[in-house]
Amino acid sequence: MLDEKVALKELEKLREEINYHNHRYYILDSPVISDAEYDRLFKKLQEIEKKFPHLITPDSPTQRVGAKPLSEFKTIAHTIPMLSLNNANTIEEAREFDERVKRFLETKGEIEYVAEPKMDGLAIELVYVDGIFTAGSTRGDGYTGEDVTQNLKTIKSIPLRLLMEEQVKVEIKGKEVIPIPLPIPVRLEVRGEVFIPIKEFEKLNKLREENGEPPFANPRNAAAGSIRQLDSKITAMRPLDIYCYGVGVIEDAKFKTHWDILHALKRWGLKVNPFIKICKGIDEVIKYHEDIEKKRDEIPYELDGVVVKVNSLDLQNRLGILTRSPRWAVAYKFKARQETTKVIDIIVGVGRTGALTPVAVLEPVEVGGVTVERATLHNQDEVDRKDIRVGDAVVVQRAGDVIPEVVVVIKDKRSDKEKPFKLPDKCPLCGSAVVKEGAIHRCTGGLSCPAQLKEGIRHFAAKRAMNIEGLGDRHIDQFVEKGVIKDIADLYSLKKEDIAGLERWADKSAQNLLDQIEKSKDTTLARLIYALGIRQVGEHMAKVLANNFGSFDELMKADYDSLIEIHEIGPETAESIVTFFREEHNRRVIEKLKKAGIKIVVSGQSSVVSSLKGKQFVLTGTLSGFTREEAKELIERLGGRVVSTVSKNTDYVIAGTEPGSKYDKAVELGIKILNEDEFKDLLDKK
Ligand code: IVH
Repeated sequence: MLDEKVALKELEKLREEINYHNHRYYILDSPVISDAEYDRLFKKLQEIEKKFPHLITPDSPTQRVGAKPLSEFKTIAHTIPMLSLNNANTIEEAREFDERVKRFLETKGEIEYVAEPKMDGLAIELVYVDGIFTAGSTRGDGYTGEDVTQNLKTIKSIPLRLLMEEQVKVEIKGKEVIPIPLPIPVRLEVRGEVFIPIKEFEKLNKLREENGEPPFANPRNAAAGSIRQLDSKITAMRPLDIYCYGVGVIEDAKFKTHWDILHALKRWGLKVNPFIKICKGIDEVIKYHEDIEKKRDEIPYELDGVVVKVNSLDLQNRLGILTRSPRWAVAYKFKARQETTKVIDIIVGVGRTGALTPVAVLEPVEVGGVTVERATLHNQDEVDRKDIRVGDAVVVQRAGDVIPEVVVVIKDKRSDKEKPFKLPDKCPLCGSAVVKEGAIHRCTGGLSCPAQLKEGIRHFAAKRAMNIEGLGDRHIDQFVEKGVIKDIADLYSLKKEDIAGLERWADKSAQNLLDQIEKSKDTTLARLIYALGIRQVGEHMAKVLANNFGSFDELMKADYDSLIEIHEIGPETAESIVTFFREEHNRRVIEKLKKAGIKIVVSGQSSVVSSLKGKQFVLTGTLSGFTREEAKELIERLGGRVVSTVSKNTDYVIAGTEPGSKYDKAVELGIKILNEDEFKDLLDKK
């Protein structure tokens, strides 16, 4: 049994070691041991603590989570108020800030500033007494905040105990090195921003949606919501992080500059943003602002600007505070990427593939330097989930080159005049029926819908489809835009004078194209089916359909049940085929194609493959030589079709041992019945 004295020593050693590795991992991002080794140390600590529970200290690495849920938050008064910042939104306003500082200090010389990224999260204060994390609070009203100590303890990048100098193996380059030693202050109040990185935020929201919970509007709300949890176990599951950017009281420590403070924080094991920079004069600040704004999309957490602070603490003191903001600092903002505006209307866009997209028409608003008048609402599910109505006040967002989108509806601003929105059941461009495929509403008028026309012609004319040589993308764009072609069948009624009059065409080239179009009329059934661009029907599926139905008319007549009988055809494909041929607009175009004189030639290969072409089979009883699936596949490979019920259209019933009622039905209707051997003969003959 471990002696208590020995245990205490061992515990101390383990905690120090774990703290060191925590710092390497969470702050410096350069671990020196494997996760497995770290876990071993942690387990060892837990085991000893289990044996000597009275030796557990609140700052032990094992004590990050575990406290019972609170019924409410207590409040904590900030020794020094947590101030807010004045904003500068333009270069001019940044220069005005610099001018004000100089005027106040009665100096013409350049001011030395520290420029820092302005993290968009939640301001908090951490209190360390003799190096031990004892309390943490939100900013609150600046004077008192909520006691969120338990929740902050769950954030791994917040040390529970400050690092002693000899433990800090950080290298600090440059002249700004603080002379050692750097003792731990008796009391240290650290201020910082708690946030959730963007990727983690997206993962968190996805998870919430999967669990049926409402997603957070942005990473800042997610961070704030996570810190304000009464149950710290929930906070512990949230991917929170922190950057420290300042201090309140530092008892028994003297610093000359803000830069020195930031470096001291680093040496005590706190996390400080790596992009902090000393800028000599406002021009360097402006350059810094530009550089960081350019990097904004690569930085893994949200920034909304840079904070500019006079470096000298002496000058900071002279400048002092005006109402609730210091004169020595300014928030030099980036262009906002979120703004509020109003939804004037919701219109419907139809994409290249026929997908219907609801689009919000907005009261024009400037977002991040660009006027935004439209925002995508993605799909009906998204409209429903966010409950976006015509007339709503909304927050719109644009990030980088991404299409603007509506983030949330400001429901407080609702009157009762807002109108809910539903996508139409007819395509607004061609009037064809709209079907829902997962989250997507899709126009089924593939052959006639103008939105899908260019893509549809491209597919129709492609080498592996109708193979119309010489009909390039450029020509297709031109024909559609000039209105020469309104559906794919119009290709076959093109006249030389239609084409030759267009730009870049002459008589000869027009005739060449017409010859190619004419040539394409001789085709195979599979190619023609493929060329129609039916969703879910690729080249292989087109062959399967051609072999099974043998003619275009038969395929058009096929219902869901007869399609689903065919091996290889699943419910989605069957549904898609039926919907396609049911659509009146498509039928009209097909009629036009037929009239144009498309000839279906039976290729050598397909005549072999289709020796059982069009024949309908029903299987009953057990076959000894093959499974039902195998028999079905063999029949289909030879062009036959297997259905489940016997009717007068059935050509053969294949009866194995112990056949069922299908046998009787076949007898009744006088259908040819084959036993297994006769069936094999039939297959062999073919
Ligand atoms: S300094 C008196 N530095 O921005 C100085 N604030 O109104 C007070 N923020 O919610 C703040 N990054 O939490 C400072 N590098 C940074 C910051 C920063 C983000 C937040 C802060 C507060 C707001 C300022």
